[in-house]
Amino acid sequence: MKFHHDIEEVLFSNEDITNKCQELGRIITEDYQDKNPVLVGLLKGCIPFMAELIKHIELYLELDFMDVSSYVGTESTGKLVFEKDLSTDIRNRHVLIVDDIIDTGLTLKEVCKLLHDRGAASVEVVTLLDKPDGRKTNDVVPKYIGYTIPKKFVVGFGLDYNQLYRNLPYIGILKESVYNK
Ligand code: IMP
Ligand code: MG
Repeated sequence: MKFHHDIEEVLFSNEDITNKCQELGRIITEDYQDKNPVLVGLLKGCIPFMAELIKHIELYLELDFMDVSSYVGTESTGKLVFEKDLSTDIRNRHVLIVDDIIDTGLTLKEVCKLLHDRGAASVEVVTLLDKPDGRKTNDVVPKYIGYTIPKKFVVGFGLDYNQLYRNLPYIGILKESVYNK
């Protein structure tokens, strides 16, 4: 396919990611024994990761989704803008947020705060990728991390550039020529 040529370097193959999801799923299964967690996927980037991850979690669990972005003003707090809110009442529920990548952490900080305010029993985060060098807040520490990567722009397996490349079955670095087109 043509769009594969836009990738400079593959960082994680589809097989790598499947193995990583298996590993994460096993740990999450252990940690949430006797709990029926609600997995909250952050759209749209969570889709491929969440689909793979849940195959490896052997628990009674529910799925829900949010589509939010945060506007950061002059203050250090972001304000959430909702495209889609949850349909589940998460009061007293154990919530596990599923994200594609954490960069600044600002969106996630606001989402976690909101879910705590709504009375969740616990709120934890699983992310496929973590870019700790981009962090602008230390209020959110993801409990489960697939891979820690340097501050490079990556696409595939849910991650996009201008809404494209989410369907790549692997994660890779985009060629600079794509940005400078
Ligand atoms: P933040 O942690 O609030 O900065 O938001 C992280 C979001 O920024 C992710 O969910 C992605 O949508 C986007 N993002 C950050 N880094 C990348 C990247 O390398 N590739 C694609 N999207 C990214
Ligand atoms: Mg995102």
